[in-house]
Amino acid sequence: MILLTGGSGFFGSHLLARSASSFSYRCLMRPSAAVRNRFPVEIVEADVADRSSLQGILSGVDTVLHMAALIRGASPKEIIRVNLEGTRALVEEAKTHNVRRFVFVSTENALREDLKDAYAASKREAEAVVRTFPNSLILRPCFVYGPGDDHGLGRLIQLAVRSPLVPVFGGLKSFIQPIYVDDMVEYLVRSLKNDLTGSYLIVGPDVIHLNDFLKKYCETMGLKRRFVALPKSVLGLSAKAADLLPSAVGWGTNQFRNIYGSRTYSIEKTVQDFQFTPRSVEQGLQAFLRQT
Ligand SMILES: NC(=O)c1ccc[n+]([C@@H]2O[C@H](COP(=O)([O-])OP(=O)(O)OC[C@H]3O[C@@H](n4cnc5c(N)ncnc54)[C@H](OP(=O)(O)O)[C@@H]3O)[C@@H](O)[C@H]2O)c1
Repeated sequence: MILLTGGSGFFGSHLLARSASSFSYRCLMRPSAAVRNRFPVEIVEADVADRSSLQGILSGVDTVLHMAALIRGASPKEIIRVNLEGTRALVEEAKTHNVRRFVFVSTENALREDLKDAYAASKREAEAVVRTFPNSLILRPCFVYGPGDDHGLGRLIQLAVRSPLVPVFGGLKSFIQPIYVDDMVEYLVRSLKNDLTGSYLIVGPDVIHLNDFLKKYCETMGLKRRFVALPKSVLGLSAKAADLLPSAVGWGTNQFRNIYGSRTYSIEKTVQDFQFTPRSVEQGLQAFLRQT
């Protein structure tokens, strides 16, 4: 039995679509979760950060696959509560119920010491908690794209779909390695089948400029768009202004640093140990087109 958290999210819904009938899942979902009962899985209602609601849900569980997290749209306090304290609660429960394996979906942001926001910090500290579990695996994805994505690349893509004029990042010198969601799911499935431990970056094989990725997306989808580069200085100022807003809007100096920071990695170790090579951007966008 696999205890899955985050099953109603972007990765979770793709994972369940792919593997609900091949594994025995018990899905921890909040009572408010929008996606429920679409798959042949057992559902238990709980809040990952409320230890009392976790009582008994790990009995008979062999592996925990913990993906639930708050990425944006919540206060730093709430992000720490769910991402760090929720992970701590699950790890402690797993230890007391003799769970064999703990797989944690973190983020590449956890590696970036320049990112000081609550999300990066919560994942960094949560990783340290997960490492206290003997048979544990940490996956650190970065820039995952595909249908149903409502975060980083997904939001930029939504903007490109809606508007004939697409604002892109001026003065951007850094590159990204986007990975298609089905390949992310393949790594998740393999994590449930293998016994790898330690931490792995999960990125695509192509190194591409973020603006070029958006242009390729529009070309593939047959969207005729004009791209307007916003000056880096204006974006920097808008990020500082967004920091002053009382509630999180998903844009601020941390997101600015995140976009403008360098983030290319070798995928050799991940490919070799998982024996799986993710598809190119070209192939990923074709798959996206077929699934849209
Ligand atoms: N998307 C990316 O590009 C990306 C990149 C790097 C890392 N990651 C990591 O990958 C994981 C999955 O990302 P995603 O894009 O699938 O995220 P997502 O779509 O935002 O889904 C988040 C999931 O967490 C659940 N959740 C949030 N708070 C919870 C709580 N207190 N108790 C129980 N469940 C709770 C949500 O449930 P509700 O339905 O109830 O809201 C949802 O199922 C996350 O850990 C994220 O940090 C994602």
